[in-house]
Amino acid sequence: MNHDKVEKNVALMGILIVIVISFGGLAEIVPLFFVKNTTEPVDGLKPYTALQLEGRDVYIKEGCHVCHSQMVRPFRAETERFGPYSVAGEDVYEFPFLWGSKRTGPDLARVGGRYSDEWHRVHLINPRDVVPESNMPSYPWLAENLINSEQTPKKLTAMKKLGVPYTDEQISNAAAEVEGKTEMEALIAYLQSQGLEVTNKTGAR
Ligand code: HEC
Repeated sequence: MNHDKVEKNVALMGILIVIVISFGGLAEIVPLFFVKNTTEPVDGLKPYTALQLEGRDVYIKEGCHVCHSQMVRPFRAETERFGPYSVAGEDVYEFPFLWGSKRTGPDLARVGGRYSDEWHRVHLINPRDVVPESNMPSYPWLAENLINSEQTPKKLTAMKKLGVPYTDEQISNAAAEVEGKTEMEALIAYLQSQGLEVTNKTGAR
């Protein structure tokens, strides 16, 4: 009987188990590629400006995502604290997405517009100046480091290849937009953009 062969051959059994299990995975994953609200941007979602995109790279480089998630889960405790819960269509231009699950600090998906630029500047240079009990590290060098504007158009081009609808004009203006800007300015521009397409619409802020 064929069944005997499968039971006596570990390798064959292993391969068949993988095939069977993968059906479960495929049944969950494949339909998502065709569901509109997971693949289409939410209303009002705009690709990052060149400065915001550079700020996102500073955010990744400095490891902000290690302590901060960017996904509000659909639970009352979360939505009352952070704002409207996250939906897939917000992240269609995020490569890679920065959802995270580790929250040493608060979720930042809705931080845009919550504080002034000046608050962020003071907070990033020394968090204790505005939040005395904070254990967030200080990032004073961000105010001194300049963005390397030579790289910016290449970054927009790479994003365009991944499907972000940048125009040729945006790409050719990208270097000028970030010229002479500090990492601090870029990072704050990025933070201030977080969640606006959702918070503006729902009137949450
Ligand atoms: C070691 C963990 C840690 C890292 C790394 C970290 N943070 Fe924080 N962050 C915190 C904690 C804790 C708080 C809450 C206390 C405070 O407001 O300072 C916080 C608060 C914040 C807030 C205020 C959020 C709010 O809603 O009140 C912002 C904005 C922020 N962090 C941005 C950043 C950015 C940008 C970076 C990277 C440059 C970063 N954080 C890196 C731990 C961290």
